[in-house]
Amino acid sequence: MTRTPLVAANWKMHKTAGEAEAFVAALLPRLSSAGADVALCPPFTALAAVVDSARGSALQVLAQNVHEAEQGAYTGEVSIPMLADLGVQGAIVGHSERRQYFCESDRALQLKVPALLAAGLLPLLCVGETEEEREAHDTERKLRHQVQEALAGVNDDRLADVAIAYEPIWAIGTGKVATPDQAQEAIAFIRALVGGRDAGAGERVRILYGGSVSPDNAAELLALPDVDGALVGGASLDAASFAAIVASLPG
Ligand code: PGA
Repeated sequence: MTRTPLVAANWKMHKTAGEAEAFVAALLPRLSSAGADVALCPPFTALAAVVDSARGSALQVLAQNVHEAEQGAYTGEVSIPMLADLGVQGAIVGHSERRQYFCESDRALQLKVPALLAAGLLPLLCVGETEEEREAHDTERKLRHQVQEALAGVNDDRLADVAIAYEPIWAIGTGKVATPDQAQEAIAFIRALVGGRDAGAGERVRILYGGSVSPDNAAELLALPDVDGALVGGASLDAASFAAIVASLPG
């Protein structure tokens, strides 16, 4: 089973529209990623600029969050039809920073993931354990809970259309990257969870690693058998650094 790798840049709350355009102009000539999907996840205010600058290229554009309702009285939120209208192809959902600082709940994810799929958009679902949970040998329990809850509303025949990012919270923005063994073990476990729902989906679903990925450690992580790409935060803010990570994908 060959899965198309995905390397996605999570810019978080960085870059104005102008800075985003300059990034795309610097990135495109550096990309030679035939056979891989490369995505940028800018803040909402730079989505249109990135869609415009990426037009005609294979670069994908994802949002960092989305609301589950089609429309309504949700001040400050953005809907799936609004993203689709801009030409955005998907959204990160359940990032640990959304869960921790903005009360993102499993209940909301149960609605967001199928709503994105129904609209033909890619949900990039983030899961991962805290340092305390890892030390207490609670990693698998946490991952099982998060994966089961977030995918509860997804039909078996759509499971493989979700992309999952395993992001141990202790590795995000800390420079403390998971060891290859830790990343492989957790991602194989997540794959088995999806495979428990539907064996074919377990084979096909793309599962990325995220957490302090850099040009220095990317090749080792991306070569792991169950790792289908990376979700990159800090090291994705510079075009040369992000391009170097994409170039680390096994040929
Ligand atoms: P990091 O962030 O690469 O800066 O650790 C990853 C993420 O939060 O998606």
